[in-house]
Amino acid sequence: MRMKIAVIPGDGIGGDIVAEALRVMGAVGEKFGHKFDFSFYLMGGQAIDTMGTPLPESTLLGCLDAEAVLLGAVGGAKWDHLKGDQRPEKGLLGIRSGLNLFCNLRPAILYAQLSGACPLKEEIIEGGLDVMVVRELTGGIYFGPKAISEDGESAYDTMLYSRSEVERIAIKAFELAMKRSKKLTSVDKANVLESSRLWRSVVNEVAKRYREVKLNHMYVDNAAMQLVRNPKQFDVIVTSNMFGDILSDEASMITGSIGMLPSASLREDNFGLYEPIHGSAPDIAGLDRANPLATILSVAMMFRHTFNLEEEALAVEGAVEEVLSAGWRTEDIMSEGMRLIGTKEMGTLVAQAIAGNKE
Ligand code: IPM
Ligand code: MG
Repeated sequence: MRMKIAVIPGDGIGGDIVAEALRVMGAVGEKFGHKFDFSFYLMGGQAIDTMGTPLPESTLLGCLDAEAVLLGAVGGAKWDHLKGDQRPEKGLLGIRSGLNLFCNLRPAILYAQLSGACPLKEEIIEGGLDVMVVRELTGGIYFGPKAISEDGESAYDTMLYSRSEVERIAIKAFELAMKRSKKLTSVDKANVLESSRLWRSVVNEVAKRYREVKLNHMYVDNAAMQLVRNPKQFDVIVTSNMFGDILSDEASMITGSIGMLPSASLREDNFGLYEPIHGSAPDIAGLDRANPLATILSVAMMFRHTFNLEEEALAVEGAVEEVLSAGWRTEDIMSEGMRLIGTKEMGTLVAQAIAGNKE
């Protein structure tokens, strides 16, 4: 198979981790007989510095022309002084909406090899943890009408959802639940918000098409509490843009290793953008200290969701587990008795595990 992929390394450690993800893709290509056409684009701080905008038209067009996008990370203190729509984050929001990536999948998996990093008590996470947060990504309060008054004394953002926006994300979540444990939790704030009451009623309508899925509704404040009280009660969580932003950070913290978690942002067809959920960590950029595993695992998600190559996805995920089991660690997941390595060596070891030549 030939795959056309737009690559956006971005800022900070973006270049370091993307290089390792590409190395791993090379190993998958070798092993399974695939070819990749990579094109590289700018976004975020780098694009601001060189082209004066966080999301150049050429980047958006290049992505639209590809089958999938691999993104490192964007942002950094260097651009923090900029106004709202000139910030690196604006590039991220612009690309999500410009590419219509309404479905954001954020798995929070606790790796058995790293269970010591989980901040929760052992009995709470016994048997592991594997939660999938399905976050609506192109609507809600992030994209609804917003303004600040002329005198700067007041401002508003609007949590706006249409039926069709809720319906399409609900369908994605139910489909995913069907492939997993057939349990879905929809999170909202229907006791207070009109948009949440619409959300809940649309989710209930969609549920009629998926009778096998056990659906429950939960208020977001309770969900935030339940995630630390008893995270194992969750399998798939579907929620709106901002609630998903917050709950996915919480879920990732429970795993104790944010450097391990990938994400997929999908369009209605199989097109998708894949990125680690962590940030650009400018302080360690270029120092061979970043953990490339979240980006490498994002590549696994790309194989699975865009190219429907489950075997290749499992090969990448299996290789990561193999390297962890062998005791190799980047500094963010280092613990006593393990072997400390850098970004490049981690990428190389995963690539080697895929190729099948162990050390
Ligand atoms: C995320 C981030 C972004 C968001 C920011 C950087 C705009 O927090 O991807 O979760 O809020 O969506
Ligand atoms: Mg966030």
